[in-house]
Parts: sequence; C-alpha cells; structure tokens
Amino acid sequence: MAKKKEEKELVIPRHVAIILDGNGRWAKKRFLPRTAGHAVGAKNLEKICRIAYEVGIQYLTVYAFSTENWNRSKEEVDTIMKLLDDYLNTCIQTANENKMCCQVIGDITRLRPDMQKRIAALEEATKDNPGLHFNIAINYGGRDELVRAAKRMTADARDGRLDPEKLDQEVFNSYLDTKDSPDPDLLIRTSGEERLSNFLLWQLAYTEFYFTDVLWPDFDKAELMRAIEKYNTRDRRYGGVKQ
Ligand code: IPE
Ligand code: IPE
Ligand code: MG
Repeated sequence: MAKKKEEKELVIPRHVAIILDGNGRWAKKRFLPRTAGHAVGAKNLEKICRIAYEVGIQYLTVYAFSTENWNRSKEEVDTIMKLLDDYLNTCIQTANENKMCCQVIGDITRLRPDMQKRIAALEEATKDNPGLHFNIAINYGGRDELVRAAKRMTADARDGRLDPEKLDQEVFNSYLDTKDSPDPDLLIRTSGEERLSNFLLWQLAYTEFYFTDVLWPDFDKAELMRAIEKYNTRDRRYGGVKQ
C-alpha cells in the first residue's frame, strides 16, 4: 500500500471553498435547538480560518447563508444573521492580528443597513492584508450572482463602458462577486449532502469535489487534511489527456 503522504509533502490547494452544512442536525442529535448548532458552527468557522492559513491555503470561500435560506423560520434567520453580524464584528479585530483580508460575496443590499455598514468597514479595514483571503457568502446564490452580473454588464454596454464585442470569459468573470479570487481548486461539503445548493455555479467549473458525512460543527483540522489528501490523489486534466 502506498505510504501516506506527510503533511509537508502534500500539494495544498490554493483556493478551498466550503459548503458548511449540518449545523441543524448536529444540534438535533444533542436535543438542542437548531440555533445552538449555528452558534457552534460560527465558532468553528473562526477556528477553521486560522487552520486553513496555517496549512498554507491562500483563499478560503465559505457558504454561510444562501438566497434560499430566507425560507427558514424568522427565529432561525434572525439568529443566523445575529451570529454572522457578531462574526463580522470580531473579524475586524482578529483579521488584523492574523493579516486576513475579508470580503463578503452575495447580495448584501437585502441585509440590515447596520450590517451593510459593518461589511463595508471590514472590507476596507482588511483590504491590504497579505494573509488568508477570506470570502464569506451571505445572501449568496450562484444564479443570483450571474443575474446581477448580467444586469451590470447590460447597463455598462448601454452606457458605453463595455463593448459587447469584447465580452469574453475574463471580462465576464470581472463582473462576479468573486472577481478578486482565482477559481476554487477544492470544494468541500460537510454533512453528507452531495449537491451544490446554488453555490459558485460559474467558478466551480473545474473544481475537485470532496463530500464528507462529518457535520460542520465537528469539522476540524484532521478532516481538512483528509480532504486535502484526497485532493492530492486527483488527476486534474482540464479536458486534456494525461501525459
Ligand atoms: C448549515 O447548516 C448552515 C446554514 C445553511 C445556514 P444547516 O442549518 O443547513 O444544517 P442542517 O442541514 O439542517 O443539518
Ligand atoms: C446550503 O445549505 C447553504 C449554506 C450552507 C449556506 P442548505 O442546508 O441550505 O442546503 P439544502 O437546502 O440542503 O440544499
Ligand atoms: Mg443544511
């Protein structure tokens, strides 16, 4: 049997995207309200950000709240928003300690005005940080992102800022929320679900997928390394032929 690669021998994916799922089931297993699962999940996100950077990941994009998650009860939505708001608040302090550059992706115009202000402050305060580039998706949907991008493109074409003849994949990409990040190399989804749930539909075209049954609040460094080990066994051909 092939020897397991040591951590230092592993190729570390430059950009990891995570669909952090399973907070509700984690709580249910413990006879706790779903909101308790979200609280532990938010704490885990802070931990995984630190670990991701220590391991050598340069970009981390996490799906925290989808355009479809508004369909949940008001109590649950309010709790998640409060946790995310608190998270953004602490990020302003911690991001500068660990040199993290934070961006929020998604349509933030539907969020409370004070939260929108906090997001703008966080992005501004951390924009030149050279450490982990952290994207957090809040009120994000891949289809919504594509439609918003298309609207801006048509407005720019109408107003003479964009020549429709020059529209290519690179220009299209520059209209997306993720324009400052390369495409993800590895997508992880926790909790056993094997679907995208409207995440990064354009950006995941050639990403490697890794699904685990582990619930997000239990996802730790060992699990992350397992995903990276699996990534190291993949042969990325991009439509070509292996030499
Ligand atoms: C993921 O956990 C967090 C969000 C989608 C906001 P869930 O809340 O979806 O947990 P499950 O899937 O119900 O267990
Ligand atoms: C996807 O998880 C969205 C986030 C993780 C933010 P969901 O739990 O909402 O997805 P579905 O409903 O199982 O597809
Ligand atoms: Mg879920």
